[in-house]
Amino acid sequence: MTITIVGHGYVGLVSACVFADFGNTVYVVGHTPEKLERLKNGDPIIYEPGLKEVLEKNNKAGRLIFTTDFTEPVSKSEIVFITVGTPPKENGDADLSVVLQVAEQIGKNLSNTFTVVSCKSTVPVGTNKKIEEIINKNKGKDVQFAVASCPEFLREGSALHDTFHADRVVIGSESKQAIDTLLKIHTPITGKKIVTDLASAELIKYTSNSVLAMKISFANLISFYCEKTGANVESVLNAVGLDQRIGRIFMDPGVGYGGSCFPKDVKALISTGKRFNIDTQLLEAVDTINEEARTNLLKKILAQVKGEKIAIWGLSFKPNTDDIRFAPSVDIIKALLEKGYTLSVYDQEGMKNIKRMFGDKLIYAASSYEALQDADALVILTDWNEFKHINLNKVKQLLKNPIIFDGRNIYDMQTMKDLGFNYISTGRAPVLL
Ligand code: UGA
Repeated sequence: MTITIVGHGYVGLVSACVFADFGNTVYVVGHTPEKLERLKNGDPIIYEPGLKEVLEKNNKAGRLIFTTDFTEPVSKSEIVFITVGTPPKENGDADLSVVLQVAEQIGKNLSNTFTVVSCKSTVPVGTNKKIEEIINKNKGKDVQFAVASCPEFLREGSALHDTFHADRVVIGSESKQAIDTLLKIHTPITGKKIVTDLASAELIKYTSNSVLAMKISFANLISFYCEKTGANVESVLNAVGLDQRIGRIFMDPGVGYGGSCFPKDVKALISTGKRFNIDTQLLEAVDTINEEARTNLLKKILAQVKGEKIAIWGLSFKPNTDDIRFAPSVDIIKALLEKGYTLSVYDQEGMKNIKRMFGDKLIYAASSYEALQDADALVILTDWNEFKHINLNKVKQLLKNPIIFDGRNIYDMQTMKDLGFNYISTGRAPVLL
């Protein structure tokens, strides 16, 4: 098939590479010529394991075409996917301006052969209907098209694997022809295919992300109870998680969830709820507890670090990505800078983006060990494998004071005790010398 993907962020670029790898011809439409040039040259722009190789392979095979122009791609494609960003507005609503502008461009360029316009961006219930209206206003007289919602469930850091081996493909549409076309393009994906209506497909995505965010906030809430009562959050959650109705997955407490999805999607679902006069207290609590997870760690740092210099390991919102959007690190760094601390930071991939945000306000270390030089404490905010398997004896030698605040509970408490660290983690009794 020939398809178009509008947008080349995580969802757009990964989908484009995967569909091209399945043998389709994929146009990728963007609006920044220099970024498109980099993509043409095999630079994926974002850091995502394995993506460069798949991009290069499909560029070489001529199956990926990058362009700023909508005309040729849209008129030649059987499916046009919208994968542009829907960032949060001040009031929590998803900002749909780019999605709607793109819909207008698609409408203007559709040819007379039937085309499916499918939104993969996370959009509130009712948005696909708006896309349909806009296309109807802008299309030529004889144009045949149908809209379909096809939400994406990939995770950053394992985006290619999640797309090639998706657990499920959700397709929501009122058009049988659109559903059949989308089923056909997803044939190589073995996961379950769920065919439903537009509104349900839109809501499935928000429900998935909000339930996962709720699990994390629930784990963090229980960690607060553990800290007050002397219980151990790992023991509690390990036991609770054995109940298959609950599970242990996505219940790791710590400094809270970040990234471009959970924070924004929980807020957007609250906003949608308010529009329909639904009581959104549960979702509001999920959001509030996530904030509290950050302030909880911050309070511990402020209460216990006596010196001036703090080392921070982990800047990206999770391992295997360079993405710092809504990362806990951003809030913690801002708060510690305000308190006058000198911060020396390190992350395998997130340094460039943090530098763009904080410039010369931070010291950028070339390695995890270098960050510790003269530091009065170490704060861990991302659970990169490198930190899990670090030489802790060397860490102790390098730190001025052997104190670690662990926002991801990556070390064993007894080990830290034996090594002679002050070790403050989440929902577990502090190890104090
Ligand atoms: C999330 C969903 O997992 C994907 O299914 C979805 O497609 C994607 O959002 C999206 O909407 O595009 P992502 O944001 O890439 O994916 O990352 P996750 O792996 O879900 O992690 C989100 C945050 O939760 C990270 O900051 C992570 O550190 C945190 N987390 C995760 C916890 O604090 N505790 C946990 O137990 C699990």
